[in-house]
Amino acid sequence: KRVAIFLSGGGSNMRALVEDMTGDHPARPCLVFSNQADAGGIAWAKERGIPTEVVDHRPYKGDRAAFEAAITEKITPYKPDIICLAGFMRKLTGAFTDQWAGRMINIHPSLLPKYRGLHTHARTLEAGDTRHGCTVHEVTAELDDGPILGQASLEVHQDDTPETLAARVLKLEHQLYPACLRRFAEGNREPLCIKA
Ligand code: GRF
Repeated sequence: KRVAIFLSGGGSNMRALVEDMTGDHPARPCLVFSNQADAGGIAWAKERGIPTEVVDHRPYKGDRAAFEAAITEKITPYKPDIICLAGFMRKLTGAFTDQWAGRMINIHPSLLPKYRGLHTHARTLEAGDTRHGCTVHEVTAELDDGPILGQASLEVHQDDTPETLAARVLKLEHQLYPACLRRFAEGNREPLCIKA
């Protein structure tokens, strides 16, 4: 299986995915794609000799259909079987998600269905939750929705701040996402549950 990874930032989840895709893994990275030319993840992929492509969203100014058409044009030659969203910070429309239905997955830093969208760590603390974590799910037209492929959870500490919590959850993401991608590439959609 050929995997395209989409990111907008440092790409630590992308690195975890790429580093796992060796040996007997059923998939290999074919492309790292970003809407940000200066994303740290793009530089890292280039150093590793992984193909990279960028489509800057800014010239499209809210014309999501045109932005997505440009993405499709850039990624099609790499013939991806699976798209992994890994900190890709642009919303995708139903037209794009439908085209990739059952073939596109995402990681989100909360225990979905709780806290879709942004600021998940602060919202967890505000709510006084005792557990928090991350979720890998199939991507559908609704933001941070779709069938759950795996969740990893940890205990919230009394003295946690959004930053300390984010750092611990990110480490869990690096375990959960590769494990879920492996299973997904093998056709296993049984939800995985990791407790830290
Ligand atoms: C992660 O917390 C991911 O769950 C969220 O964006 C962050 C990306 O981090 N969607 P990185 O770029 O993978 O380091």
